[in-house]
Amino acid sequence: MAGIICGAYDNTTTQICRTRGTGTHVATMTVNIAQISDCHLPANPDHTYRGINPYRNLEALLKTVKSLQPDLILASGDLSEDGSQDSYRLIQDLFDPLGVPVLALPGNHDDPGLLADVYPGSPTDSVQATQHGNWQIIRLNSCLHNNPCGRLSNKTLSELERLLVQHSDQLSLVAVHHQPVMVESPWIDKYRMLEPGPFLALIDQYPNIKAVVWGHIHQVFDSDRNGIAMLGSPSSAINGVAGAEKFTPDTLGPACRWLELQGDGNLKTHIVSV
Ligand SMILES: [Fe+2]
Repeated sequence: MAGIICGAYDNTTTQICRTRGTGTHVATMTVNIAQISDCHLPANPDHTYRGINPYRNLEALLKTVKSLQPDLILASGDLSEDGSQDSYRLIQDLFDPLGVPVLALPGNHDDPGLLADVYPGSPTDSVQATQHGNWQIIRLNSCLHNNPCGRLSNKTLSELERLLVQHSDQLSLVAVHHQPVMVESPWIDKYRMLEPGPFLALIDQYPNIKAVVWGHIHQVFDSDRNGIAMLGSPSSAINGVAGAEKFTPDTLGPACRWLELQGDGNLKTHIVSV
């Protein structure tokens, strides 16, 4: 069944994303995920970012998230502002009390190696796939050195293709930092995933991929690509007005995307904000 529009942006409303069928998946457990993105924590928790305190904003958001009891955190990049060891210690100090696994992947502000030291399995030069109930979560590294734009390497694309061929009947969610499609906000589309064509052509071949999720854009984005939910997550630090030429702070506070991966292949999502 095709057609996904997930446009509910508050803490209470959830919209079901109906995804393409790939056979029969026995309805078992639902995996509840808090996708936390673009925390931009500096080494010093008192330092500001775009006029706000990213440490305090993440702390406030995680208080709300903890009350919702997620099964795991999907941390989709730019966890750090400066790639420092101290900033990752701060992230750990805030994430650890939730007591759930953290699936991390790097953004352009992160140090991919340091992030992988802190959260083993965060992809550096290889694709990472983990199993959660009936679903697999596939994490990709889209970062380029000293460049805010992203790109998936040929190695990443071939590993992803190999994985998809091997697990073509596995419900899948793909997570990456950079947006693989334009979100129509010029200030951040300047720094999108470059040359996304081969990636998009690849996912189009696999109806078991139910969603692609990313961070980086500091706004909520929902669309549909041939039955795949294309979902951008807001930032835990500060978000911007969609469509703006230059970054313009909006009224959405620290926020994250909530994802419910249902055992029968459906996916529900909404935005949680402070
Ligand atoms: Fe980013």
